[in-house]
Amino acid sequence: MSIYTFFVHNNSVMTLPFSSHAPAANPVVRTASRGDVEQIWELVSCYVAEGLMLPRTIEQVRMAIDNYVVAAVGSRVVACAALDEYSPSLAEVSSVAVAKSEHGKGLGTEVVLGVERLARARDIGELFALSLSDRFFLSLNYEPTSVSRYPEKLARYGKLNAAGVDIVPKRCFKKVLGNTWEMPALYEEPAKQLRAS
Ligand SMILES: CC(C)(COP(=O)(O)OP(=O)(O)OC[C@H]1O[C@@H](n2cnc3c(N)ncnc32)[C@H](O)[C@@H]1OP(=O)(O)O)[C@@H](O)C(=O)NCCC(=O)NCCS
Repeated sequence: MSIYTFFVHNNSVMTLPFSSHAPAANPVVRTASRGDVEQIWELVSCYVAEGLMLPRTIEQVRMAIDNYVVAAVGSRVVACAALDEYSPSLAEVSSVAVAKSEHGKGLGTEVVLGVERLARARDIGELFALSLSDRFFLSLNYEPTSVSRYPEKLARYGKLNAAGVDIVPKRCFKKVLGNTWEMPALYEEPAKQLRAS
């Protein structure tokens, strides 16, 4: 069994046992830092043209950098995902992207789990996600739902549409975050500090 390391900003460290998908170079799953902004933007942008993700400016990534989780090999960001908060209790798991060379190694799963840890630390009770395919979020125990459940998201779509952005219809998934039994206490405290920073 491989070991990934989960870092948080104040340098507290915890190790998590992960699946056999782990690449040899042992990527680290951690909250993003300012130095990651450009690589996150590049990673997301390469899927925009394929209609898999909505466009984001580098400034939008920079402004929301505390909401991103990345997997990195050394200084190279190979996967990312973001916690996009809509209210104190609701957020979207967005910007899930894995470098093409790293697909199928479990990194998409790990960055989404990292976003879930961030959501729990911020007391967010429900997550939703939009995807063109069923498999990825079903494999993470999300359940299919209708996007009409999230008028805040529909309102954002309306604005983007009005600005000329094509919205590709996607399936919607949700996950109600239970109590924190699966999140070691070691992580919870530093993540709360992170939010306050
Ligand atoms: C979708 C994506 C994030 C998956 O990342 P990944 O690291 O390759 O995925 P994982 O290795 O963690 O796989 C987790 C599960 O998702 C499934 N999966 C992986 N890629 C998938 C894809 N493109 N479509 C549907 N399911 C996929 C895997 O089969 C696996 O299920 P299994 O364990 O039952 O076999 C990655 O393919 C990607 O970056 N795609 C382009 C960007 C994108 O579509 N973003 C929106 C994400 S919903």
